[in-house]
Amino acid sequence: MKERWREYGISESASHHVYKGRPAYRSRFDEVMKFHEPGLAPAIDGSGAYHITADGLPAYESRYVSTFGYYEGRAAVHSDDGWFHILADGSPLYKERYAWCGNFQEDRCAVRLRGGDYFHIISDGLPAYRGRYRYAGDFKEGYAVVQRDDGKHTHIDASGNLIHGRWFKDLDVFHKRYARACDSEGWHHVDMTGMPLYRERFSNVEPFYNGQARVEGLDGSLSVVNESGLTLLELRSPPQSHFEALSREMVGHWRTQTIHAAVELGVFECLPASDIEVQERTRMHRSVGARLMRALMELEVVWRDVDGLYHPTNRGALLMRSHPISLSDAARHWGRESYQSWSGVVRSLQTGKSAFEKLHGKSFFDWLQDRPCDLRTYHSAMSAYARHDYRDVSDLLELTDHDSILDAGGGAGELVFALLRSCPELEATIMDRAEVVEVAMPPADLAGRCRYVAGDLFEEWPVTSDAVILSRVIHDCPNGDALRILRRAREAIPRGGTLYVIEMVLDEATSRGGLLDLNMLVMTQGAERTEKQFREILAQEGFGLLDVVETSSVSSILRARAL
Ligand SMILES: C[S@@+](CC[C@H](N)C(=O)[O-])C[C@H]1O[C@@H](n2cnc3c(N)ncnc32)[C@H](O)[C@@H]1O
Repeated sequence: MKERWREYGISESASHHVYKGRPAYRSRFDEVMKFHEPGLAPAIDGSGAYHITADGLPAYESRYVSTFGYYEGRAAVHSDDGWFHILADGSPLYKERYAWCGNFQEDRCAVRLRGGDYFHIISDGLPAYRGRYRYAGDFKEGYAVVQRDDGKHTHIDASGNLIHGRWFKDLDVFHKRYARACDSEGWHHVDMTGMPLYRERFSNVEPFYNGQARVEGLDGSLSVVNESGLTLLELRSPPQSHFEALSREMVGHWRTQTIHAAVELGVFECLPASDIEVQERTRMHRSVGARLMRALMELEVVWRDVDGLYHPTNRGALLMRSHPISLSDAARHWGRESYQSWSGVVRSLQTGKSAFEKLHGKSFFDWLQDRPCDLRTYHSAMSAYARHDYRDVSDLLELTDHDSILDAGGGAGELVFALLRSCPELEATIMDRAEVVEVAMPPADLAGRCRYVAGDLFEEWPVTSDAVILSRVIHDCPNGDALRILRRAREAIPRGGTLYVIEMVLDEATSRGGLLDLNMLVMTQGAERTEKQFREILAQEGFGLLDVVETSSVSSILRARAL
């Protein structure tokens, strides 16, 4: 008779529990849930929600909006004034009321404050630690996953300490010492130090089961891998073989040049149109219009309607000159000067020097100086990337402490425009090469708050400021030049002032940015850098790196103090 409830099932209508095929008691409810230790089950009827004993009787007098199962002797209840936990006798465990409560697992329970923050409480209801998170999951095997405000996840221990300090796009709790983790490249498994078990990335992975896990490849394949990421068994072939996928990569220049040709010829400005109309309007050789349009369809930048008229797809609309973040000038830049220079990448790798400079006999920025059309194209491309990539920089840079800001190497000023629009009190100076600032113009609404100054990043700067931005400037340079620019920046910023370096930050754990890094070598002998490398070059010139804030694009904001 004792502990009979352990064998209780739930009736089909969920109005009562059943024992050995018969009702376990006489009472009936609107709904009941499973029994849990210490022999209590959530039930709801006209009087409200509460817990019942194995005899179907109320375990206490209180009534709630909803009640949940007992875990570790505590049950979450939802009352009119909020969520909290009760003990087996129905008495509240603590006075606080939350926006939501989880269930106790391993002596810890996740709760959400009314303001939205999550944290864990311990068995007497006190906070387990001082930190607050955007989300906190259940503890398992001594650790839980928490998510901070920038959306990144990590593992904490029962006292709230970070166990490895590595942050991931998504993360799971440990399952026998390994956890599923997702970084910018995909899903994989990490060990207790947060390090990947292997290099491969997947679109999905299952936890290891006796040393093996089922994974779905980025190529759509399904396989079983071991703890070194090696494939043991193929469960489904990829829609495209490695041979086919690599062959496709090897002709990447077909894509670059097809898009470049369509932009140069003005194809997107002709649409909607038939292939013959496109051919005539863009003065293509007769009979090739249809061939170009077929290739553009393969690239999914145009589609053809039932009448044979071509239209830009949503992706293709980005190649129209009129698009607010048009990539048409970027297509020209990649298809012309970048493309030509990349033909010298082998030499760049042998010499460590810029292939562009070898080809043209001068640096990229000196070459642009005498070519107004290419200069305009390049800065228009940079502005489009800035409008897209810096879209949340204004929210992330806390500029309220500054009256003015200096954007050194700020180009046409796109980033400054966004900052000024979000900080109505702020004024800004954009410093760049003379030929750049001579043709740059602020938008009418910002004319009074933004000025352009000609200045050389490598010489003494004509302006000082306690807040300076260097966005995508340092990556144009090898270390020696980067240090020279930082030295000039340090001279221009009083002690205690702030330098904001906005750049992609390479990550030791992934290969993200590898191709962009090679592009910097080819074009300007520049380089993408890791956080450690930035910290080192900043320290050499008198800056202390304060923090690195990721943006929603490829760039991060490195905040450094002038020491
Ligand atoms: C890659 S662009 C970045 C532009 C802008 N900051 C952005 O993030 O979009 C590099 C900028 O540095 C400027 N620049 C290059 N060398 C310079 C120099 N010696 N003095 C001043 N500006 C320079 C270029 O004209 C260009 O505007």
